[in-house]
Amino acid sequence: MSNWTDKLFIERSDLFLKLMNQRWLHTDELINGITAVLRRYGISSGILLDLCCGNGRVSIHMAKKGFRAVGLDFSKTFLDDARRRADEHGVSKTVTFLEGDVRKLKEALRSSSESFDVVINAWTSVGFFSVKDDFNVFKQARELSRQGAILIIAETMHTEFLSAKFTPTSYTEINDIMMLKNRKYDPTTSKMNESWIFYEKSGENLKFIDRVEIELHVYSPSELTCLLRNAGWEPLAFYGSFSTLQPMSPLTSLNIVARAR
Ligand SMILES: C[S@@+](CC[C@H](N)C(=O)[O-])C[C@H]1O[C@@H](n2cnc3c(N)ncnc32)[C@H](O)[C@@H]1O
Repeated sequence: MSNWTDKLFIERSDLFLKLMNQRWLHTDELINGITAVLRRYGISSGILLDLCCGNGRVSIHMAKKGFRAVGLDFSKTFLDDARRRADEHGVSKTVTFLEGDVRKLKEALRSSSESFDVVINAWTSVGFFSVKDDFNVFKQARELSRQGAILIIAETMHTEFLSAKFTPTSYTEINDIMMLKNRKYDPTTSKMNESWIFYEKSGENLKFIDRVEIELHVYSPSELTCLLRNAGWEPLAFYGSFSTLQPMSPLTSLNIVARAR
């Protein structure tokens, strides 16, 4: 059986793209916060690596702030959309989008001789595979970065949030689509299983479109801290949000700033 990520991000990329486009609406505030934090560490330009870049919202917004960006994703649909958007935003000369598996990061970036100043992993783009895979991704990212480079992990789900605010069901509406989520979380394994059920709205009725079964390893802040340290990144700060730079709490998402040792 193929991994659920193939189904959600490749086979049904048409559906996930709708969710991704909603995130674009809040990306200005995210990037203003990230660039303010980077300035604190003496970085206001340079080259950044956007891990699991989706349709490019982080790379494109960072390019508009003067960074050169390389975005990597394994979904052709998202990358095609990202390239079209880079053009539309006038940054296609400073952003490169590459297709590849983040678990084979060095291989995917073999054509680039850059040493990155910034690495970004946004919107819960960890925990899709094994903990060992995540460790290897951050280790490879460290090897591709200069000493003192900054790693940003943004808008990420974590175990404290699930303990404080677990909701077994939720639903989201995006134009003509309704998405129902059923959720289970096992604190003994840190695995969250979700059923995402998509419907098309048709007047008063809902027509079933598809269902995707998701399994995510949800990290605790301390587990991710330990993983990053072992991969060569020293965590420096934790925020609840890059938009507000409020402190992290069980009720916020997880946002980490770490430095390459
Ligand atoms: C939740 S989305 C986040 C997208 C983007 N970082 C953002 O903030 O808009 C997760 C992304 O990870 C990508 N992805 C999942 N598994 C991947 C893999 N093995 N290699 C590369 N990209 C992957 C998906 O295609 C998707 O774009």
